[in-house]
Formats: sequence, C-alpha cells, structure tokens
Amino acid sequence: MAEKGRTQAVSMTGSAPCKTVLVGVTGCIAAYKTCEIVRLLQKAGVRVKVVMTEHATEFVGPTTFRALTHETVAVGLFDDPSDPIHHVSLAQEADAFLIAPCTANVIAKIANGLADDLLTTTALATTSPLIVAPAMNVNMYENGATRYNIGKLHIRGVRIVEAGDGYLACGDVGRGRLAEPADIVSAVLEELGVRRDLSGRHVMITAGPTIEPIDPVRYITNHSSGKTGYAVARAAALRGADVTLVSGPVSLPAPEGVRVVRVRTAREMLAAASESFAATDIGVFAAAVADMRPKETASRKLKKGTADADLGTIELVENPDILATLAAGKRDGQVVVGFAAETDDVVANAQKKLATKHADLIVGNEVGEGRAFGTDDNEVWFVSAEETYDLPLMSKDRLADEILDRAVQFLG
Ligand code: CTP
Repeated sequence: MAEKGRTQAVSMTGSAPCKTVLVGVTGCIAAYKTCEIVRLLQKAGVRVKVVMTEHATEFVGPTTFRALTHETVAVGLFDDPSDPIHHVSLAQEADAFLIAPCTANVIAKIANGLADDLLTTTALATTSPLIVAPAMNVNMYENGATRYNIGKLHIRGVRIVEAGDGYLACGDVGRGRLAEPADIVSAVLEELGVRRDLSGRHVMITAGPTIEPIDPVRYITNHSSGKTGYAVARAAALRGADVTLVSGPVSLPAPEGVRVVRVRTAREMLAAASESFAATDIGVFAAAVADMRPKETASRKLKKGTADADLGTIELVENPDILATLAAGKRDGQVVVGFAAETDDVVANAQKKLATKHADLIVGNEVGEGRAFGTDDNEVWFVSAEETYDLPLMSKDRLADEILDRAVQFLG
C-alpha cells in the first residue's frame, strides 16, 4: 500500500444503495393513480414491489403492476406455493411499506391489528416505516370512526399522507381525494431517510471498461466491473438527480431511474458523453477507458499463420481521453470528478491527473492484486486543488455518496 495522508472523518449520512418499497394497493377508484406513484418511486431510484387486496384487482389488474415493476405482484395469502410465509418475506424485503390508496376498511383493519389477507398481514409483520395515503368518500373520511382509526395509526408512528380536497369520484366535493402522487413519494423518500439534495441537477457518469475490437471475435479491454460508476448513478438518482450513465459492457443491471446509454468503444463513449455533458452539473468519469485501440479492425476473423494475420504485431493507436477532452471545455459551475487507477504513487499521480485533466476532484485508488477492480469496497484518496486526504475502506455504495457529497460542496 502507498503512504496514506491525513485521515478525515467521513459522514455516515449517505443514502443506501437500492431501497425496496413495498406498495400496497386497496380497493378504491384511485388505484389507477398508484401506477404513477410506482413510476415516480422508480424514477427516484427505488425498487418497487406491489401487493394488492382482492378488491384492488377490480380496479387495476396485477398485470399492470407486474409490467411496471418487472416483479411478481402478490394478492392472495396462499398464491405463492414456493413461499409458505409470503407475508413475512415481503415484510422483510421492504425498507418501507406504502399503502396508497388506503380505504377506510383497510385503515380500520391495520389500526386494530386485523390481518385477514396478504396486504394486512404484511402490514402487521412489517417493522420498517409504514406510510398510509387514504382515499375515500368525504363522509367516510370525516366519519368519527375513520378519524379515530387514523389517529390511532398516527400515534403508533405510521406516516399519514392526508387526503386532499376536491372533486371525488362519487360526485361529492370535499376531503377524501388521494394526495398528489409526488407528495406521497416525497413522504416515502423522507421515511427512507433519502436526501434529495440533487433534485433538479443533471449528473452524468461514465462507467465500466471499453472494448476495442481487433476483429469480430477478439478485443482489447481491462478488468473494470463498472461497480463504482453504477453505484454513483444509483446514489445520484436516489438523491433526486436526472442521471445519464454512459456505460461500457458490464454485467450489472441498469439502476432504477437512470438513463443508460450503452457503448462499446472509447470513441463511442466520447460521442455519448459529449451529447450529455453540456447539460451536466456534475460529471463523474469512472470508466476504465482502454488507452489504446488497434489501428485497424479486421472485418473477418484473423486466422493464425496466414499473411493477413500477424497477431503478434497488432498496431495500436491512442484513444481519445474522454475526461480531459470534455473537462477542458467545462463551463462555470460544472463540477468534474475523475479517477486515478494506480499501481504506484497514487497521490502524486492523482495530483498530476487533477491538473492535466482539468478535474475538480480526483478519486485516487490502488489497483492490481485483487484491489478495486471487481470488488465491492474500496479505499481511496480524495485529491483536489485545496486538499488531499484519504478515506477509510468502505463499500462502493457508501463511496458513491461520499463522492457526491464532495461534488455538491464544489457546486456551492
Ligand atoms: N479517462 C478517460 N479517457 C481515457 C482515459 C482515462 O476519460 N482515454 C479518465 C478515466 O475515466 C479516469 C481518469 O481519466 O477518470 C484517469 O484514468 P486512468 O486510467 O487512471 O489514467 P489514464 O488517463 O489512462 O493514464 P495512465 O494510464 O497513464 O495512468
């Protein structure tokens, strides 16, 4: 390991990697609005699973939610023969449980601990934050029994997103309309402890390796797994940013709520990153771009021992430096974060790259001998014009938040 510099305490407030929100849907005309809630949660970088009451399926079919979430949708207590205690596994998976819309009947049940279907049983088995967004006719909403039950839930720490005023499906005008989907989602994210400090900001990330073809079957690449770049993308989405992830070939799933532009070569990555960069507030260049590419790419497989295939002497040319190219033209207020993957002299090399690549921050780390590439955690230095310090070993998810915290300070 290289010499480490000043150690600085790091904040423990980072948002978690990928939160799962269980969304409960009950039998109310407002059930169609849950589709929008699901979409907004996904846009915020959250994984969503849906559980429905039988009555809810009369309003919106499970197929709709299955298509929106790409997850199975739970309805009956005994529907999943592979999981005999489905309510417990659903409850355990959830970082928060939102019931929206929640009918007077279901409010009454959960206020009194009744559990006679999968949704209410799961509510009883849930230890994570429970958020309830009621929707019903105005007289039902203002009925003393409902107010009493909502009060009971409130006292127990359940977050209530009160219904709004307006025109109700039954023709009445008054209180009982499901709250706005955006307000419900804000309440859920607040309960998850997610900071929304990147709301309205554009963040672009390059991630993964590039591959540079020699012929249709062979290529030059490196060991990058893309995990750090993907973690930054996920964290930025959770914190409210509009995120574009320009990704080389990796085997990671696209993070929720992130626009992924898939590329293969360094030149494709430069073209894709150039398109987004102008609108970007924070650019994080985490890709391990292949420095060189074969001068020529053969259109057919080169055969060993033939005149056209001197595989021992493939002529290479340098690839464009994506970070240096784009950061050279950065405008005021844009923040650029680069990386320095080094086997030796991490800090000195990172300081050099800070200057030559016009970055505001370089995240320096050691690579090789099982370090950094493909691992789930990393130990890095933060190098900027003002200061250089090291961070303790931490997960790449946590590191992603540290990088964004530092970038936000540069944004001012
Ligand atoms: N980078 C880039 N385009 C390249 C090479 C690197 O955008 N063609 C970016 C990387 O994404 C990273 C930073 O530049 O943010 C440093 O990358 P690194 O691989 O550490 O260094 P190189 O610039 O390739 O220099 P060297 O190989 O000499 O260390």
